Amino acid sequence: MKLRQMTIGDYSQLKSLWVPEEMESDDNQLQRVLDRNPGTCWVIEDQGEILAASLGLYDGRRGFVQSVAVRKDRRHEGLGTEVVQKTIESLKDCGTKRIRLFVRKSNAEVLQFYKKLGFAVEEGCYYLYDTSGTPV
Ligand SMILES: CC(C)(COP(=O)(O)OP(=O)(O)OC[C@H]1O[C@@H](n2cnc3c(N)ncnc32)[C@H](O)[C@@H]1OP(=O)(O)O)[C@@H](O)C(=O)NCCC(=O)NCCS
Repeated sequence: MKLRQMTIGDYSQLKSLWVPEEMESDDNQLQRVLDRNPGTCWVIEDQGEILAASLGLYDGRRGFVQSVAVRKDRRHEGLGTEVVQKTIESLKDCGTKRIRLFVRKSNAEVLQFYKKLGFAVEEGCYYLYDTSGTPV
């Protein structure tokens, strides 16, 4: 088992991980994410199979964690914790003091996972500007 940086060559396996979880997936976008965030996007791989993934995004001030997913048959083995901890560590190395992530209301049970990782729920105002014109 190997924890390593994500590459664009991982895309087809990442798509299989993300699409069933209704996470956005597009290879051009992933390439841009990787170009803009060198060293903060991670996967756990075992014998060529991607088991877990996490994107760390840094905007020059704040860090964000996105698209965290573990293969269904390998959940509850600590892989999610490992890949997110590495993402947090690498975002800290960028110099960020705060890391945010978003959890859908429909996925609220996952808050327990993030709580164990040290995240706290931030009460606040949430806005969405939908550039596609399609209701979300
Ligand atoms: C959330 C997810 C990444 C967790 O990955 P994982 O490898 O199973 O997590 P870990 O084994 O590191 O879990 C550590 C602890 O977090 C908690 N936890 C993990 N998944 C949980 C869930 N779905 N609901 C509630 N608590 C959870 C448990 O306390 C767990 O410890 P335990 O297994 O001893 O009970 C995985 O369930 C997943 O891919 N879910 C679908 C995608 C998703 O919802 N991603 C988050 C989007 S915001």
